[in-house]
Formats: sequence, C-alpha cells, structure tokens
Amino acid sequence: MKFEFNQEANAIVKLVFDDENLKPGTVRLDTAGDKPTLLLGLGKQDELKTASVRKAFFAIPGETIKYGFDSLTIDGLNDPALLAAAFEGLWMGNYVFTRYKQDKQADRRLKTLCLVQAEGLEEKLTESRVLMESADFARYLVNSRPIDLYPETLAQLTKQELEPFGVEVEVYGKNKAQELGLTAFLTVSEGSDKEPQVIIAKYNGAGDEPYGALIGKGLTYDSGGYGIKSTEGMVTMHSDMAGSASVLGAIRAIAANKVNKNVYGVVLACENMIDGSAYKNGDIISSHLGKTIEIDSTDAEGRLTLADALSYTEEALKPSYMVDVATLTGAVVIALGDVAAGAVGNNDQLMKDVLSAADLSDEPIWELPNYDEYKEQYKSTFADLKNTGGRAAGSITAGLFLGEFVQDTPWAHLDVAGVTYRADKAKPPHPVGASGFGVKALYQLVKNR
Ligand code: BES
Ligand code: MN
Ligand code: ZN
Repeated sequence: MKFEFNQEANAIVKLVFDDENLKPGTVRLDTAGDKPTLLLGLGKQDELKTASVRKAFFAIPGETIKYGFDSLTIDGLNDPALLAAAFEGLWMGNYVFTRYKQDKQADRRLKTLCLVQAEGLEEKLTESRVLMESADFARYLVNSRPIDLYPETLAQLTKQELEPFGVEVEVYGKNKAQELGLTAFLTVSEGSDKEPQVIIAKYNGAGDEPYGALIGKGLTYDSGGYGIKSTEGMVTMHSDMAGSASVLGAIRAIAANKVNKNVYGVVLACENMIDGSAYKNGDIISSHLGKTIEIDSTDAEGRLTLADALSYTEEALKPSYMVDVATLTGAVVIALGDVAAGAVGNNDQLMKDVLSAADLSDEPIWELPNYDEYKEQYKSTFADLKNTGGRAAGSITAGLFLGEFVQDTPWAHLDVAGVTYRADKAKPPHPVGASGFGVKALYQLVKNR
C-alpha cells in the first residue's frame, strides 16, 4: 500500500465518534453521497489515541475488498501521528501471508491512501511505511515454515534483505561456532540435521560512537527435543525465531531510515530436534562463559542459545547495552496473555528506555520484578546452574538465568512468547499468524537512546 498527496480516491473513510450503534472498529457503508463512504466507529472522541486509531483502521481493508475499492481518503483526521497510526492499521489489515497460497493476489487489495499535505506528515508517514515494510519482513520470516526457513535460509534472507540498506552481515557456520566456544548453543543444535548459523548484522550510522546490540532467539523450530512437546504445543513452533525476526526487522528499519546510531543485530540460529546425538534431559553441558548447566529440560533450550549469544556479544562486540528478544516461556502467556511482552533486566535507565520505546510504538511491554530470591530456583546440585526454575515465576527465572551470562553491560530481556504469534485469528492491529511485534519498539529504543 502506498500513500499519495492530492490525488482522488474512490472511497472515503469517515470517523464516527460516540455512537452506540457503531462500536470501535466496526464499519458501515453509506452510499448516499457522490462517493461511497465507509463510516468507521472510533469510540469516544476525547479518548482518541494512536492505538485506538490503528486498531479501528485495521477493519477497513476487509470492507474495501468486499465493495471493490482500492483507494481511500480519510475525512476527519489531521494530526500526523494519528494519520500515521491509521496508515499502519490499514497496512496491517491489508496484510495476507501468501507464500503458501496459489492465489498471490489475495495480498494487499487496498492500494492507495490519498491524503492532503500537512506540516510533518510526509516525514511521519515515510517512517511508518519503513516500519511496516520491516515488520512485513519479520512476519514473512516467522510465518515461513521450518521446511523452508532453517538457519541457513534465515542467514541468506537476512543478507538479501539487509545488505541493500548498507548493513554488513557476517555469517558463521558450525566450525567457526566451535572455535568461538559457543558450546551451549551447539549442544541445543546437536539433534538437528540443519547446520547452526551465527548471524551478525552490523549497522553503522554514527561513526566511532559505541554500538548497541539487539539479540534475538533464533530457534527455527522447537520440537522440545527429548523433553518433547505435545502435537498441539509443537504446531506453532516455527514461530520460535520471532525474537530474531523482530531484531532483524528493526535493524532493517534503522538502516532504511538512516538512523544516526550504531547497532548490531545478533542471532544464533538452530533447531531443537531429536536424534541419537541430541542432548538429553539430565545432561550437564558447558557454555561460552564457562558456567556449567544441568539440563532439567531440553525444552528450555532458548535460554541456552541466548546465554551464549549474550556472553559472546558482550565479549566480542563490547556493546554499550544489550537487549535480547525471545519467545522464551509459556509462563509469560499465563502472566500477561497476548497483550504485553514481559521484561527483566539489570539496569534501571535501560529499562526506562525500553518502556518508553514501548509506549511510543504502542507495543506494550511490562516490567517483571528481578528480586535475587528468584535466583535460588535455578541452583543445581551438580552443576553451576540448571536450565529451569520450576513452574513458579517461570518467566522471571528464565530471564534472570540469562542475566547470569551478562557480566557488566546494561541488559534487558523481552519475553515475547505471548505477543508474536496468533494461531487462530487476527487481533487488531495484528493479522493472523506472525504479528511483527517488537520491530517498532526496538527501532524506537535504538533511535532514542
Ligand atoms: N519456545 C518455548 C516457549 C513458548 C511457548 C513460546 C509457547 C511460544 C509459545 C520455549 O522454548 C519452551 O519450551 N519453554 C518451556 C520452558 C520450560 C521447560 C521450563 C515452557 O515455557 O514450557
Ligand atoms: Mn522449548
Ligand atoms: Zn523455544
């Protein structure tokens, strides 16, 4: 979808406030005027926010498809931030993942949003468009299935998508990962036929300034390993690389918008599978940092790959801050549902910056407590740590486990297991399947830090 200025549209969207019969996000067609008009319910006018506008406009593309319009104009919105939110809602309501459909035309039936020039509007919309294209890239990666999307193809797609924007992408295979001592990561990968890959994207937008680092969980499939998942639990586990997709999408957006910051995107990509050499429940393994880990469950694999990603990034890239993004625990779904990501960290200022980036982008992130007492739960009798902390406070103990592999760099962890994938149906402003959650918040974090 594109936006144009001062061009004729073939339909109008008109906002309707405070109308009991037109609930927020519902649409009614009115053909009385000279142009077909879609009346869009938006709730109370004095409570109008970017988030409610984005959600409401999500409903419009479905209607345009029904009535055969392909361009729209908006009557009654002038503020650039609200118009950008409307554009984003339209974009996401228009999104269809067609990789596995014969009919590729199902995608993007709404073609053009026609607007009137206003101060700052074009700039704001251009930024939104880049964010939406970058979230589409993330959605494409997450929605693709592990038969197509595995560590090597993830690395290829990353190069293909990011290099044109001036991002340097380095990729290492298994041998180099061994040399680097990424033993916990390699242990998780052991049961898979697919070669693990280390993907490092580097964007330089600020000369000699220090780099930030975004680190994504990159399990291109999580069967659970010998701690095997149920059929039901396994069926969406192609989405277990959603953290890495958010990171790579954010790096794309940062580079495409030429943000004046330096940042790395780091992904240790592998599959968690089963064969004769796969790691086992009860194993004790080592890690890049040297700490030993008792494997309580091979299904708590993400924290093993991320432990190595964090300690390697800190040692080799020496970033000024690190943020990891991971579909780490089912427990975060119990705690926060599909509404917000959970966060823990070791630095108040970084956490504040993360939470304001979340606010700015309407991607809810909620801080969880990080009391030392929780750390008792992952003590091991025979090793330095064990990789689960029991059912209680499962997202916090998983996050704090990661913190054991960070030495003295400001760090925050985002558990996005509840918000990155909608198995059954769309939930405005997110389409069914991958949501693309995190691309905007990470972009804002890097841009404003
Ligand atoms: N990838 C899963 C977490 C997950 C669950 C993501 C549901 C998205 C939806 C993760 O690797 C996992 O299996 N975690 C276990 C940890 C447990 C064994 C301590 C979990 O949450 O059950
Ligand atoms: Mn798992
Ligand atoms: Zn996982």
